[in-house]
Amino acid sequence: MKTKAAVLWGMNQKWEVEELELDKPKEGEVLVKMTASGLCHSDYHLVTGDLPAPLPMVGGHEGAGTVVEAGPGVTEVAEGDHVVMTFIPACGRCRPCARGMSNLCDLGAYILNGPQLDGTYRFHGRGHDIGQLLLLGTFSEYLVAPIASVIKLDDSVPLDKAALLGCGVTTGFGSTVRTGETRAGDTVVVMGVGGVGINAVQGARIAGAQHIIGLDPVEFKRDKSREFGATHAAATVEEAAALVAELTRGQMADVCVVTTDVAEGQHVAPALSLVGKRGRVVITAIGRPTETTAAMSVLDLTLYEKQVRGSLFGSSNPRDDIFELLSLYDSGRLKLDELITREYTLDDVNQGYDDMLSGRNLRGLIRY
Ligand SMILES: NC(=O)c1ccc[n+]([C@@H]2O[C@H](COP(=O)([O-])OP(=O)(O)OC[C@H]3O[C@@H](n4cnc5c(N)ncnc54)[C@H](O)[C@@H]3O)[C@@H](O)[C@H]2O)c1
Ligand SMILES: [Zn+2]
Ligand SMILES: [Zn+2]
Repeated sequence: MKTKAAVLWGMNQKWEVEELELDKPKEGEVLVKMTASGLCHSDYHLVTGDLPAPLPMVGGHEGAGTVVEAGPGVTEVAEGDHVVMTFIPACGRCRPCARGMSNLCDLGAYILNGPQLDGTYRFHGRGHDIGQLLLLGTFSEYLVAPIASVIKLDDSVPLDKAALLGCGVTTGFGSTVRTGETRAGDTVVVMGVGGVGINAVQGARIAGAQHIIGLDPVEFKRDKSREFGATHAAATVEEAAALVAELTRGQMADVCVVTTDVAEGQHVAPALSLVGKRGRVVITAIGRPTETTAAMSVLDLTLYEKQVRGSLFGSSNPRDDIFELLSLYDSGRLKLDELITREYTLDDVNQGYDDMLSGRNLRGLIRY
């Protein structure tokens, strides 16, 4: 069949929206008609090369839609089912999945390669096989994905909101609540309040944090952080440090989540300076693979038991967590509608990324 999709053909180029050929789902795969896709910063890492992946590739990894066809052997979903895609497959069978760490599912080894799990491609165009970012490529009207990357939702769940659970919401919420282990009464700093960081703010609020500081150089992001539950906002680390010192009488924060556009080694020391004894710095932003050094006081790690923790997909088990998040949304505690600052058509995907980069969007959303 034919589908319209946004393809990246080379680094530092624009997304090209064009008609592609899409194969039928093979064994263990499903064909999905997309309803919506969020514009996450991680797709932009593909453009800059910060996330190296073979091109050409269809972008997008935060989406939801309706099953059109279940491939051979698929029994979990059928035509017409509403589904959200997870940016990391959760097979439920590998050792990490079995240990409740399905964000680290062993199928993750295949997600930056381009083809489906059997090594063959479903998208084709201009005489080339075209890859799928994170096995998905949600910047397409239709896509084929492994059943391990698909979660069936209740028909009542609004798919445009559910799309955001495929990455940003689950990642941000989990970064504070799961990786950071935020507890009632804690003080939490969120460094970088974009589409992921804003959900780290919500996570801190829902976990019962007492002081939540949204740290971002962009005023619009600081204002938004207050709307989503931050008790304070700061434009610089110095400002945040003074604020946290005052609020905690010098004890400093329990958790600092780093959700900046890119994680840099130079972010670690300032983040560590914001947390106190046994404080956790959670690195959720994606670092460059070439960056192998980070600045920090090694002595602080020992003397104050400060910790630096990486967080992938918010240390979540999406087949469980997504339902908990939807239930928090139903009860009015988790905001999803308010996350979407602007909607775009697929043709305007580049405009959406320009708006993200200029700080105008909390989250942009493509609606099909
Ligand atoms: N670990 C994961 O599982 C995972 C999942 C999704 C996204 N990510 C990564 O998380 C990061 C954030 O993604 P996003 O979609 O929210 O991006 P975004 O562009 O929406 O937000 C980034 C925010 O960081 C702010 N910022 C930049 N430099 C800063 C600094 N020095 N101090 C404070 N704030 C600063 C920007 O103003 C912006 O508000 C990206 O690196 C993305 O690739 C990781
Ligand atoms: Zn993402
Ligand atoms: Zn697995």
